[in-house]
Amino acid sequence: MDMKERLQELAEAARKRIEESDVPEKLNEVKVAYLGKKGELTAILKSMKDVAPEDRPKVGQLVNETRAKIEELLETSRKKLEEAAREEQMKAEVIDVTLPAKKAKIGHRHPNTIALEEVERIFIGMGYEVVEGPEVEYADYNFTKLNIPEDHPARDEQDTFFINSSILLRSQTSPVQARTMEEGKLPIRMIAPGRVFRSDEVDATHSPSFHQIEGLVIDKNITFADLKGTLQEFARELFGPETKTKFRPHHFPFTEPSAEVDVSCFKCGGKGCRFCKGSGWIEILGCGTVHPNVLRMCGIDPEEYTGFAFGVGLERIALLKYEIDDMRLLYENDIRFLKQF
Ligand code: DAH
Repeated sequence: MDMKERLQELAEAARKRIEESDVPEKLNEVKVAYLGKKGELTAILKSMKDVAPEDRPKVGQLVNETRAKIEELLETSRKKLEEAAREEQMKAEVIDVTLPAKKAKIGHRHPNTIALEEVERIFIGMGYEVVEGPEVEYADYNFTKLNIPEDHPARDEQDTFFINSSILLRSQTSPVQARTMEEGKLPIRMIAPGRVFRSDEVDATHSPSFHQIEGLVIDKNITFADLKGTLQEFARELFGPETKTKFRPHHFPFTEPSAEVDVSCFKCGGKGCRFCKGSGWIEILGCGTVHPNVLRMCGIDPEEYTGFAFGVGLERIALLKYEIDDMRLLYENDIRFLKQF
């Protein structure tokens, strides 16, 4: 076979392999196989010494032409592959602006928080301040200064989480009353929301940790009538303008007289239904006029100042307002439950 034919065949074989190359790596292989140091075309160049001297310029030219042809084919093919790859990538990255957007999931307030903010709004509207006290508290504040005697059942270790004999997890928000009075700034008009702890088993209406909102007003000439008016207004704002209140005599060591307050059932309007267990009334809080012993122990002269106090269960308000029948739902953080508020 003469040189021309050999070169033509070689070029043809290279062209075929170039056409079959579907990735740039394969083109590289072809380049190495033909034009590389040990490549086929290079081998032919090396064999020039066997060509008759008068034919060498012609053959040399042919070899160069073949090399140029293969190089050109490689270059065009490489460009094509790169172009295709770029297009492929563009297609993959295309943004369809007509597709519905992914919804941003925004969190929201817990029903306890919603209820608390509602209660705060009502009392702030009546000129109250919102204060806080510690969750780890002295027995002195939780009991003694609140006129709770040594032998009171609340002091039992079965009911209260003691850390040692003088420090405990507060079982009520009432100690904030004593702390506020001791600051000595009068008059006082405050509410104190916060977490409280009791050694209770978990069930639909109990939890070892729950929340209360304490209320305290101290001023000259404060009477039980002020308490009644305030809580009546609170109940109307919270449960609707038709709401009636009923004060039932009760006992708390730190108030005298003391009462429990029922509101007329906002579901049936007081006729009696399943929600109020047929009675037409729902209990919501405890209250009373501050006991002179408490005032005295907190540095206030009961001859000069009087006051009233109340304590509301926050979970109880949330459960009532949103008609939730199991307190545990408020603590489980099940998103399907929380989403509804
Ligand atoms: N601390 C009481 C409790 O946990 C609730 C309470 C009742 C608070 C009467 C008061 C009050 O301030 O006057 O059961």
